Amino acid sequence: MSNPETKYTVERANAEVRAHAPAVRRTPYALKYHIAPPCGWMNDPNGLCRSGGRYHVFYQHYPYEAKWGPMHWGHASSADLAHWRHEPVALAPDQPYEEGCFSGSGIDDGGVLTLIYTAHDERKPFKETQCVARSRDGVTFVKSPNNPVIPAPPAGCSADFRDPKVWRQGDRWMLVVGTARGDDGCAALFESDDLEHWRYKSILCASNGAYGTIWECPSYCRVDGQDLLLVSPIGMEGKEHKNIAMFGAFDPEAGTMRIDRWQDLDYGGDFYAAQVLDDGARTLLFAWMDMWNRDYPSAADGWAGALTLPRELAVRGGKLLQRPPRELEALREAVLADGGDAAALNGVGGDAYELCAEMKACAGELELSDESGGLLRVTLEGNRVIFAQVGCAPVEAPLTLPFDGAEIRAFIDRCSIECFVNGGEAVYTCRVYPRGGRISCALRGEARRARAWALGDAFEAAPC
Ligand code: FRU
Repeated sequence: MSNPETKYTVERANAEVRAHAPAVRRTPYALKYHIAPPCGWMNDPNGLCRSGGRYHVFYQHYPYEAKWGPMHWGHASSADLAHWRHEPVALAPDQPYEEGCFSGSGIDDGGVLTLIYTAHDERKPFKETQCVARSRDGVTFVKSPNNPVIPAPPAGCSADFRDPKVWRQGDRWMLVVGTARGDDGCAALFESDDLEHWRYKSILCASNGAYGTIWECPSYCRVDGQDLLLVSPIGMEGKEHKNIAMFGAFDPEAGTMRIDRWQDLDYGGDFYAAQVLDDGARTLLFAWMDMWNRDYPSAADGWAGALTLPRELAVRGGKLLQRPPRELEALREAVLADGGDAAALNGVGGDAYELCAEMKACAGELELSDESGGLLRVTLEGNRVIFAQVGCAPVEAPLTLPFDGAEIRAFIDRCSIECFVNGGEAVYTCRVYPRGGRISCALRGEARRARAWALGDAFEAAPC
């Protein structure tokens, strides 16, 4: 790999990717249908939007090593949400006001794909400011001469001031950004007519002792008439990182959101920094499918980090549901199993597949294993599900929707498992590194139907 100390540019980043991506693609853990960096490091999803007839997914990226470094923005795009192509690196930290291009969002501004991100610079009195970059072709970006367009946090807020998420609210743009006041995480709200000049409006909502000390990656959406604020709080319930959906009522005129309650977005340990994407018809979510301070076994192969599959959001009976969108069915290849009882899944396995177990009652157990033993056990027990992952404390999630059975859907992709229970009421995401490269399943209990499909490669062959 080239010397990371040299000045960072998009051209140099793309040369690095071209040089290393083909070899990384051939390594055994390389994911088949999840977005992962073509080489090097990835964390948060960024800039999620639809523009020019395609879905755009950007992400925190360091192409030079499989560990966190001066942040760039990687980019992938898709016409159908199932098949993806890697695009050239979109942003490099190449300006005097930034050592890293931290997380942020994307919006289609009348055909101009516009990114709003945090410029991070430890050398400055305000280490985090908000900046804009625009693209006419959806691939190459020009940073605004007015950057930083938000040069300082609001009075009383911490210099931890990052991860702007922009949306259209009536006749103006709104932007929510994560920060803190004292020991309370909070989200600050700004307004603009042109994405370039921003007015501070208010503190949207704050932790008040309950939701952690710093908020990262706030993301606002309204789903089925319910206002939601997704937040990645640091220090909530004593945990270093959590990712929650806050339910409440947003008042755009006052610029405040009343918080009524919250729900865990995912019960697994490899899920963070979720961001929403409004595609005009529905709200989707992507998150980072990994976590800070982990072992990253794929780093030995030149890459680390990945994103979850897209998830479609719905609110039913006061619960947030996350479901794999229908489009993902386009990835199905051979039918591995299709039967009227649990035994149909026994012995099914592979490195990339989807399974769906429709149980007769909320009872039964799915076990996913590699050649040395169980990796993840999912137990349905009346009004709860228990996820027991090898090496982790078991976690329990309530199931409150009316059901007669409960469905378990799981997506296995080389070194990852995403498991959706009861129509996406509880989701568990984890990275596992199977011995022998294969994950097999066993289902116990009474099933109405049990199916599995091999899933194909979602990526066009050569990254650019
Ligand atoms: C969340 C985060 C963001 C920040 C980015 C830096 O995982 O810490 O707050 O913008 O990662 O890579």
